[in-house]
Amino acid sequence: MSNPSLLILPGDGIGPEVMAEVRKVITWFGDARGLKFDVEEDLVGGAAYDAHGTPLHDDTMARAQAADAVLLGAVGGPKYDALDFSVKPERGLLRLRKEMDLFANLRPAQCFDALADFSSLKRDVVAGLDIMIVRELTSGVYFGEPRGIFPDNEGGRVGINTQRYTTEEIRRVARAAFELARKRNNKLCSMEKANVMESGILWREEVQWVHDNEYSDVELSHMYADNGAMQLVRWPKQFDVIVTDNLFGDVLSDCAAMLTGSLGMLPSASLGAPMANGRPKAMYEPVHGSAPDITGQGKANPIACILSFAMALRYSFDEGEAATLLEGAVQKVLAGGARTADLLGPQGGTAISTTEMGDAIVAALAASQ
Ligand code: IPM
Ligand code: MG
Repeated sequence: MSNPSLLILPGDGIGPEVMAEVRKVITWFGDARGLKFDVEEDLVGGAAYDAHGTPLHDDTMARAQAADAVLLGAVGGPKYDALDFSVKPERGLLRLRKEMDLFANLRPAQCFDALADFSSLKRDVVAGLDIMIVRELTSGVYFGEPRGIFPDNEGGRVGINTQRYTTEEIRRVARAAFELARKRNNKLCSMEKANVMESGILWREEVQWVHDNEYSDVELSHMYADNGAMQLVRWPKQFDVIVTDNLFGDVLSDCAAMLTGSLGMLPSASLGAPMANGRPKAMYEPVHGSAPDITGQGKANPIACILSFAMALRYSFDEGEAATLLEGAVQKVLAGGARTADLLGPQGGTAISTTEMGDAIVAALAASQ
């Protein structure tokens, strides 16, 4: 039997730097635990634009469709700001999500104990925090038609985007969220703006329908997304799993990320329907962006990307034990005081580099054997 395949798309900015550390981890699992992957690498985002004049070449798209899982670093950067919208780096990422139909984006926000004092919120608000945001990823205002910038009738212009959701789009992401809730603390909170948006009313009704017909054992609540944002910083531990649409999910997950102290810590998994081999279509990526301000300085925190690989082990390859081992190694390294620059509190301290953090995690893996 051949090894499972991984397509690595490092992308732009700090993407290649953090991905280099993930590759050390992948190599370690192959050598030390016989968990081998066939790894291929390709371009996405600005890097792909520089090489091919498009943020995602068709060949890369085909390789992504064929891979057992895709690992992505980050896309974008100021160098590409002036590009036409249709070839901006972000379009490459959005095309991957859309064409692979990765409708369920899992964004865990976990506060590592060693970092609880580092959050901008008080320790008791965030210590032990473990919530999961499930963001719908292939529809809503990100993709709805009509969209565009058009002339209006008064000599000005009008910018249009459309928030659009169908019954099935809502039900399938709701099911993914209910399934996760069952494996956790059995609580799901759905967020929308049913007070001002028809798509929000439909969202609420369909999530309720899935609950009543298929998951009545899970405790379901509904919240307006603005209140949800407030509750996330007031008392985040009231949540277990949150399900929300594409745009609210984008905003709320950044908000939740900061509860944990740094955006540099948060992984994500984007999952679609099962493939012929039973594995879900899947792409894993850190929640953080390409961070052009620190690119090439060895300052980037590779943990979000490394934990994204842990999610791949768990959700694509059924290697929960290996995932737990890797997450434990990250925890041990943090508990030992290792900090990249983003993890230094106001008191300061000495930061280690991206590669030193990667090496420390591989050393902790080796020590845990
Ligand atoms: C994210 C990012 C993307 C998004 C950008 C880079 C297109 O902010 O994954 O959260 O808006 O979805
Ligand atoms: Mg975002």
